[in-house]
Amino acid sequence: VEVLGSFAAVRRWGESLQGSFGLVPTMGYLHEGHISLLEGARAGCDAVVMSLFVNPLQFDDPTDLSRYPRDPDRDLELAERAGVNVVFAPGVAEMYATDPIFRVSPGRMAASMEGARRPGHFEGVALAVTKLLAGIRPDRAYFGKKDAQQLAIVQRLATDLSLPVDIVAMPTVREADGLALGSRNVFLGAAARSRARSLSRGLFMAADSVAAGERGGAVLEAHAGTPAGADDRVELEYVELAAQEDVGRLEELDRPAFLAIAATIDGVRLIDNVSFEWKAGVPVPDRGVRLDRISALYSTEED
Ligand code: PAF
Repeated sequence: VEVLGSFAAVRRWGESLQGSFGLVPTMGYLHEGHISLLEGARAGCDAVVMSLFVNPLQFDDPTDLSRYPRDPDRDLELAERAGVNVVFAPGVAEMYATDPIFRVSPGRMAASMEGARRPGHFEGVALAVTKLLAGIRPDRAYFGKKDAQQLAIVQRLATDLSLPVDIVAMPTVREADGLALGSRNVFLGAAARSRARSLSRGLFMAADSVAAGERGGAVLEAHAGTPAGADDRVELEYVELAAQEDVGRLEELDRPAFLAIAATIDGVRLIDNVSFEWKAGVPVPDRGVRLDRISALYSTEED
C-alpha cells in the first residue's frame, strides 16, 4: 500500500486514476468496524484511500488523546490486506499548517448527547472531515453508524456546504455478544466487559418494541436504558431518540432516527445506538452485524 503524507500527493494520485475512489477516514487502531468500511469502499468504488490521523482537535480531554491506542504498523498491514490503494497519513503540520481561523460549526447538532459531554469534539470532527473531503476530493466517503451523531453531522455538513461527495453509512459491527466494536473496548477488564452488554441489550429490547408497534420516544428511551440502569456499576449518561436529519430529540418515532445510549463502566466510556430507516411507511431497525469470532482488537498476533 502506498503511504502519502500530503494532500497534494493524494490529489495527484486521484487525478491520475481512471475511475472513482472512496475515502475511509480513520484515527487508526483498526478493528473489524473499520475493515467493513474499507470493504464497503472497495465494493462501491474503483479505488480506496484510507486516512489515518489522530485528530487532536476532537479530543476535549488531553488524557484521552494521550492514551488513545495507536499501532500504525498493524494499521498499514490491515489496510493492505483490505485492498486499500493509498493510506493518507498526514502529520499535524500538514492537517493544520496554520492555526486555522476559519472553523466549521455544527451548530445545534453539537448541543446534545456526545456534543454536550465533549465540548468542542464535533467542531474538531467537522473541521477534520471538511479538510479531508475538500483536500482529497473523493467520490464517496464512508462512515460507521456506530458514531450516530457524528454520521448525522457529516451527512448534514456535506448537504449544507454542497460538498460534491456521497456520504455512505455502514452498519455497526458488533462483537459476538452484541457489544459494539470500538477501539476503547480493549480497556475493559473482564467484569466491566460483561457489564458492557447491558447497552446493546437495552437497545435491542427497544428495537423489538418498535417492531411490535411502539413509537413513543420516552418509552423507547426507557426500554433502552433499563438493563444499564439496573446495574449500579454502569454509569448511564444518556439515552436519547434523535432525528437523523438534525439530531433533534423526538417525542415520537415518526421519521428516520437513532436511539443512542452512552455509559461509563470502570472509567471506560462507551456509546452505542440502533438506527431506524423508513421503509414503506414503517421504521425498520438497523441493529448492525455481529462477528462470529473474537475481534482482532484483542490480539496483535497474526493468524
Ligand atoms: O470517526 C473517526 O474515527 C473520526 O472522528 C474521524 C471521522 C476520522 C475524524 O477525525
